[in-house]
Formats: sequence, C-alpha cells, structure tokens
Amino acid sequence: MLITEEHLRAYQENGFIFLPEYFSKAEVEVMKAALPRVFAENSPQRVMEKEGSSVRSVYGSHVGNDVFHRLSRHPRIVAPVMRILGGDVYVYQFKINAKAAFGGDVWEWHQDYIFWHKEDGMPAARAVNVIIFIDEVSEFNGPLFFIPGSHKEGMIDVPARDALSMNEAGVPESYRHSPPWITNLTARLKYSLDRETVAEMVAEHGIVAPKGSSGSVLFSHPNIIHGSPNNISPFDRVLIIITYNSTQNIPVGVVERRPEFLASHDFKPVVPLRDDALL
Ligand code: SIN
Ligand code: MN
Repeated sequence: MLITEEHLRAYQENGFIFLPEYFSKAEVEVMKAALPRVFAENSPQRVMEKEGSSVRSVYGSHVGNDVFHRLSRHPRIVAPVMRILGGDVYVYQFKINAKAAFGGDVWEWHQDYIFWHKEDGMPAARAVNVIIFIDEVSEFNGPLFFIPGSHKEGMIDVPARDALSMNEAGVPESYRHSPPWITNLTARLKYSLDRETVAEMVAEHGIVAPKGSSGSVLFSHPNIIHGSPNNISPFDRVLIIITYNSTQNIPVGVVERRPEFLASHDFKPVVPLRDDALL
C-alpha cells in the first residue's frame, strides 16, 4: 500500500499530499546524475531564465532519456496517481525545473489546469502533478507555496495576458523570438492570478510551503493555487514535475497544438515497472 485512504482524503481536502523521503538517496543520485546531459542539450525543450545563462526548465526528457523514462513509469508514482484518478493514466507533461542557486526566477501565482484547458483542450481537471525533490527544499531556495484547499474553487477564469502587454512589460530580449507558448513557461505567466484573488484565497485558506530533503514527493491537484519565489540562496532547487492525465480525459478541439513536449499526444496507458526501476 503506497498511499492510504487517509492520504486520499487529505488530497481531496487540501489538494495535495506530501511524502517525505519517498525516494531513497541512491535513487535520487541516479536522477541527479542524469541531469547534466539534459541541461546541456540546446533545443526548444530547454527554456533559459531571462538573463539567458542558466537553465529554467527542460521539458519532455522522459522520451529521450532512459532514467527519466523509467522514472515516469515508476510504480511508487504511477500506482498512487492511478488510485487518485481511478484508472489508466498517461504522461501529459514531464519537466525539470532547475531554480538555480543565486538566479532561479519566480513562478507567479497560478493554477495549472487553466493552461491545459485553454491551450490544449483538456476537458476536465482529471490530472495529477507529481513533484519530486531532487535537492533539499528549504525556506531559502524558492520552495513551492500552496494555498491548501484552493483547488475546491475550481478553475478561476482569468484573462490571458496578451502579447502586447507582455511587450510593454518588457519581455526580455532573450525571449523575443520565441514561439507564443513561451508565455506558459516563463516568470511572466499567461494566466497568473491577480493580487486581490490571491489575498482573498490566502485569507481563507492560508499558505503552506512543503519543505524536506531530497527524494521527497508531492502529489498535487491541477486547480491548487501555487507559485514559488526566486532563489537568492547558494543552494540549487531542482524539482522534477510529471503530470499524468486520465486516459478518459483526452484533450479535444484545439487546432494549433502546442508541441508534443508540452502536451503529449501519446495516450498509451502507462504500465508501471518494478519498484527497483531506478536502481
Ligand atoms: C510550476 O508551477 O509548474 C512550477 C513551480 C516551481 O517550479 O516552483
Ligand atoms: Mn504550476
């Protein structure tokens, strides 16, 4: 039994569950050792921070990289996700968020589902994020902030920040020639929540910042309100975030699809590997 009935209730109540040191140090080392190669690959799947020199995120590494492929099929991840969603799932998106020491930039307050619904046509919020701490996450290195219970508000339909206002706000030169979907991935997000909404939600529900050593894992709901501050500490904060979608919730109706590495069209159900898949 990987997650209990109590975990499931907590997920439904709070919109997330936190499992400290869920992966062993040996398993974390295997994942960590696979990072330099994917960070070094200069491709559209790699998004730099706006200063242009450090990696912000890398997308879709579960396809080309054997370690991350196996991670995306790890039973300790996939079995709880199937339990939460009640059936077969596929990998919708796989990303590594680097949040580098002395430079990792913010993620503004947002909900994930609005991106998947509006950009990709995901019909319902029947997906789960699995967030794996590759480094220790502390109060210093830009932890994720969650507003617990905020997923119960459903999708808050904020207007898209349009391209013009992005430019007026000064989209850094380094992104100026990027495709339109870049605004889903940078510090200035296309669908971020305004201050009034966040203040209201926090007054009602509070804020938590789950912290813990490497190998810890969060499972979170697509509508939980979250964000993270920048990292001015000397400590990296690498997270791997894998989004699984129910095979009953295939996106529909979007003509201009985002690239495969942002919204996968490989709907084949994930078949979990053995528990020692990373070792
Ligand atoms: C996200 O919201 O998808 C990522 C936030 C983070 O890496 O801190
Ligand atoms: Mn997010």
